[in-house]
Amino acid sequence: MKTYDIAVIPGDGTGPEVIREALKVLDAASARFGFKLNYTHYDLGGERYLRTGETLPDSVLAELRRFPAILLGAIGHPGVKPGILEKGILLRIRFELEQYINLRPVRLYDARFCPLKDKRPEDIDFVVVRENNEGLYTGAGGFVFKGTPHEVAIQESINTRRGVERCLRYAFEFARKRHAQTPWRGLKPEEVAEGKRAQLTLCGKTNVLTYAFDLWERAFHEVGREYPDVKRDYAHVDATTMWFVKNPEWFDVIVTDNMFGDIITDLGAMIQGGMGIAAGGNINPAGTSMFEPIGGSAPKYTGKGVINPLAAICAGQMMLAHLGETAAAAAVEEAVIRVVREKLKSLAAGQMGYSTSEVGDLVASLV
Ligand code: IPM
Ligand code: MN
Repeated sequence: MKTYDIAVIPGDGTGPEVIREALKVLDAASARFGFKLNYTHYDLGGERYLRTGETLPDSVLAELRRFPAILLGAIGHPGVKPGILEKGILLRIRFELEQYINLRPVRLYDARFCPLKDKRPEDIDFVVVRENNEGLYTGAGGFVFKGTPHEVAIQESINTRRGVERCLRYAFEFARKRHAQTPWRGLKPEEVAEGKRAQLTLCGKTNVLTYAFDLWERAFHEVGREYPDVKRDYAHVDATTMWFVKNPEWFDVIVTDNMFGDIITDLGAMIQGGMGIAAGGNINPAGTSMFEPIGGSAPKYTGKGVINPLAAICAGQMMLAHLGETAAAAAVEEAVIRVVREKLKSLAAGQMGYSTSEVGDLVASLV
């Protein structure tokens, strides 16, 4: 039987509660579709840091490299200064394991949960491909004259030709493949007649960030010439946020840098129904990828059994798709859609009409 070794990092706050439900659903899927998932749990997060002073020991990082996939709950602790756990655990894994893509699907499963007026599920169905190893996230920069009235803080955006190009190539490939599921999204009939089958929007700020997005734009068109079936589109990041609210149906696949991707995907999560359902994958196509619900550790809901586990379940679903268990991934997504449409009163913590574990049970029973 096909067996996958999976590292599990439940993490902080509600992380362990949602991971328990994700594993319940993954176990139901593996039993039904005939493969095996072998979990190894890792204790990382705020509690460990407060106890031992360690964020991510090198030995643990070395072990994580051996897995095809990691499932992460949440990182973040009210007792730890912001930045320590994020940089020491989450970003360190993303960078050291070269998870250079952050893939964030934005899909509305039920119009009842959309804050936008008159938008249907078919209007909100796009994917953001966020560069995940460069940009403003590298930590490049520093202070000059720190602590004086003349202090200057410099935070540099690093955009390498290699890093940008591999991200763009991933996005073009992704857009091409996605066509099978969502034909002709964002295209005009004449573009379809010309043979275009998908649309990739570069989201940037070419009018102000004239070095960074000059490189992105040139690379976008150069790589894009190899994908004549993918229509190339461009939008400034500020306009992108406007269109997410006004015309989300215009988007198919969006590619962007690390910081802009971080920002627009929180907005994306809101228009798909909130953090209760939003998941993402940190992808290294040739190494270890990590899947996570994109919301935080939600300390105020911890231990109450009210948090929505669907985002973690969807992260597990993305992991199955990544591992090549496509039928199982599709079954989990179908089960999630049915539970959202037929059962839940809300996607928000404490308002679902069911407890965290009941939602997990419902999904698992339908897989
Ligand atoms: C995310 C988060 C992280 C990010 C934080 C926790 C460092 O907001 O995954 O989007 O900024 O990437
Ligand atoms: Mn974020």
